[in-house]
Amino acid sequence: MIECYAYLSRAVPDLDLRELSRIIVNSRGFNATYDITGVLLYDGAMFYQYIEGPSEPLADARQRIEASRHHYDIQVLLDGTPHTPGAFPTWSLGYLMLDQPAQALQALVIPADHADLVGAFAALAAESDAM
Ligand SMILES: Cc1cc2nc3c(=O)[nH]c(=O)nc-3n(C[C@H](O)[C@H](O)[C@H](O)COP(=O)(O)O)c2cc1C
Repeated sequence: MIECYAYLSRAVPDLDLRELSRIIVNSRGFNATYDITGVLLYDGAMFYQYIEGPSEPLADARQRIEASRHHYDIQVLLDGTPHTPGAFPTWSLGYLMLDQPAQALQALVIPADHADLVGAFAALAAESDAM
């Protein structure tokens, strides 16, 4: 079964961008192996992430995400079954740096509506060239 997981969190204040690029490369490797797709946004202070994929590997990824010492104050926006799977089908983990906080994501009522959530991530991703 395909499930999804989305959250926002606070990056540690001394986050090193080289360390972040290492995290992204590792995450992409795991996600690609297990058919997980999604997107990670970073505004310089907060992370916003949406991923979806088969339940077991998604739960593994979630465990590692929540255990990471590189962020804290994780607020789960949504977990469960996506309304329509395949939000970011070609991205094992699209990444982009925002030049301002993602207010559309911060304003979502939790648990977020899946379509609203994916729409907000997609709109933010479309504003910039996701890598
Ligand atoms: C912002 C962020 C996003 C992450 N995304 C994923 C992911 O999509 N898939 C995954 O398997 N692990 C993900 N991870 C976990 C990392 O790949 C790695 O296991 C973890 O960062 C290692 O712990 P450390 O950050 O304490 O060194 C993420 C970690 C962070 C901090």
